[in-house]
Amino acid sequence: MEPIDIRFEKQQQQIKELKQRNEKLEQFYCAYKKRHRCEGERIRELNCLCRVAQCVVSETDMDVALDKIVCIIPHGWQYSKESCARITFKDTTYLSPDFFESSVFQTEKILIENKAVGSIEVFYPPGLGLESKIPFLIEERNLLKAIANIISFYVIKQRDDENRKLIQHQLLHADRLATIGQLSAGVAHELNEPLGNILGLAQLALKLPDMPDQAKKDLGKIEECVIYSREIIKKLMEFSRQTSLCKKTINLNEAIDSSIIFLEARCVKEGIKIVKHYAKAITITADPNQIKQVITNLTINAIQAMKNGGKLTFTTRKNNENVILSVEDTGIGISGENISKTFMPFFTTKDVGEGTGLGLSVVYGIVRNHNGDIKVSSEPGKGTIFEVCLPLEEK
Ligand SMILES: Nc1ncnc2c1ncn2[C@@H]1O[C@H](COP(=O)(O)OP(=O)(O)OP(=O)(O)O)[C@@H](O)[C@H]1O
Ligand SMILES: [Mg+2]
Repeated sequence: MEPIDIRFEKQQQQIKELKQRNEKLEQFYCAYKKRHRCEGERIRELNCLCRVAQCVVSETDMDVALDKIVCIIPHGWQYSKESCARITFKDTTYLSPDFFESSVFQTEKILIENKAVGSIEVFYPPGLGLESKIPFLIEERNLLKAIANIISFYVIKQRDDENRKLIQHQLLHADRLATIGQLSAGVAHELNEPLGNILGLAQLALKLPDMPDQAKKDLGKIEECVIYSREIIKKLMEFSRQTSLCKKTINLNEAIDSSIIFLEARCVKEGIKIVKHYAKAITITADPNQIKQVITNLTINAIQAMKNGGKLTFTTRKNNENVILSVEDTGIGISGENISKTFMPFFTTKDVGEGTGLGLSVVYGIVRNHNGDIKVSSEPGKGTIFEVCLPLEEK
């Protein structure tokens, strides 16, 4: 039998070893629990990211997508039930359900080409998760960054899709105008000669001696109608680019001044203020009469659109290869439904006798004949801008 003190020592040793083993087990268990919790967190974060990604892939409407994303975001955070989120994009704000604002939050910018266009924020109620100085996990910061990146990508994709649609629409529109142009050219060409003959014969007949008064009156009317018809034919020929150009070097600012000089008094009378923003030394090679025609037609339309007065702004500027003339009014504007029809021959919203609907067709034909382009943008009730782009040098 071992002496009692030795047995006691051994027992003490065993207790010590047991304690150490216990401590190790506890440490191991804690590490296991922590790892398990971390894995749970990561799964939650990945799940959130995956749902956000699915949303941008399947949703074509940006409003709907951002509305859905803001509701998904809180689910990716460790205190998901207590947290809420806000997305601000341009002028619109999207909120998760039961949104509240608090001083405990994290935020990330939504960047497009290094420019902030919005932000995402996640809020915790005060006091929650504040055991650590930084209430949000590093992984949650990365998650927020990843979501902001997905949204940026989505915005860029939406913008590209819209641009593509717009280009397709413009091509279709240009194609349609070209087809109408061909048709108009054919009709104009075929009618021009017989109309010339009718006019010539009517004028000859008018010179006949002893022509009864009634016949003279009727011939006078025929003459009037033919002149009117030939005017229409001339406009159609201008639209379908059948007219030849007599190009010269002209100063665009001077061309505007001389085109609107006769309309200035009318503007004063109708309460329209004329504003000019001219770039220096804007010269182009163009047919001066036709360019004046463009300016006059755009100005008359602008005046007609501002029955209660307003502001008419002429701007000229240059970019690398082009000169841009814009005519902007603060008039009634053009509805979305009508805007694509504005350059179509005979499209008019004016009363019979007030407009033939050929003014902008002529403008279009002249601009295209000068290898230029014309764009219109408008907001009903606010005003309209016509932007004419002409090449600086003759091509
Ligand atoms: N500045 C403008 N503001 C609002 N609507 C416009 C403007 N310019 C054109 N429009 C719209 O486009 C239509 C077509 O214009 P366009 O100049 O071709 O013909 P019109 O002015 O109606 O007739 P015309 O020019 O032959 O006398 C107009 O009837 C009008 O509805
Ligand atoms: Mg007009």
